[in-house]
Amino acid sequence: MSTVPLVRCAGAARTYGSGATATVALQPTDCAVLPGARTALMGPSGSGKSTLLHLMGGLDDPTRGTVEWPAIGTRAALRPGPVATVFQGPSLLPPLTVAENVALPLALVDVGPAEARDRALAALEQLGLTALADKLPDELSGGQAQRVAVARALIGAPVLILADEPTGQLDRFHGTLVVDALLHAAERTGAALVVATHDETVADRFDACWRMRDGLLSTEVARCSS
Ligand SMILES: Nc1ncnc2c1ncn2[C@@H]1O[C@H](COP(=O)(O)OP(=O)(O)O)[C@@H](O)[C@H]1O
Ligand SMILES: [Mg+2]
Repeated sequence: MSTVPLVRCAGAARTYGSGATATVALQPTDCAVLPGARTALMGPSGSGKSTLLHLMGGLDDPTRGTVEWPAIGTRAALRPGPVATVFQGPSLLPPLTVAENVALPLALVDVGPAEARDRALAALEQLGLTALADKLPDELSGGQAQRVAVARALIGAPVLILADEPTGQLDRFHGTLVVDALLHAAERTGAALVVATHDETVADRFDACWRMRDGLLSTEVARCSS
């Protein structure tokens, strides 16, 4: 397996605001995600998990230090395609069907509507969601909607999937289905997976465990249960 990181943070820090109201969300952080890694990112609410995922996904800039994607290229090359993000809450566009939502990232690149629909249906089929293709987001349960969001994340054949508490609003059963979908997709495609979670039983299914507290990241822990 290649040892060129997909993403590498070097002294990367993020402070929101300035002066007396400044919040240090992420203290200077060194970390890297290698191809095929399966990493759980644990930590209490407000510890900086989302901030770190946003930096690694190129959705936000560090206020100090650097974030680079050595195995992928520049930040402009990240999306749509190599890096995919799954968020915690509802993220599907209400007026679009499930298949249209899943195909949406392809609308940003040069893929025609017929091929986009075919690829969306294939992504849905891989997650066992074919029956939902023509439904609207309002007709889905929370767990179904989150698995559709996973299908949408997979449409660009990502090499790095970043999921921010994807099971945070789901019960244990539906949360397990979403984590299954992410892990199976990563297994099938070889993509690296970083999942922020509060849930030790979710984290136990990953190979590595990073822990955050007060904006400080520890990457020393091997598995979450150790
Ligand atoms: N846009 C923002 N503006 C100001 N403070 C923020 C913003 N986003 C996050 N924070 C603060 O940064 C800290 C880390 O937040 P976050 O990364 O969302 O943590 P987590 O995802 O672990 O809950 C918290 O204190 C939070 O209140
Ligand atoms: Mg968060």
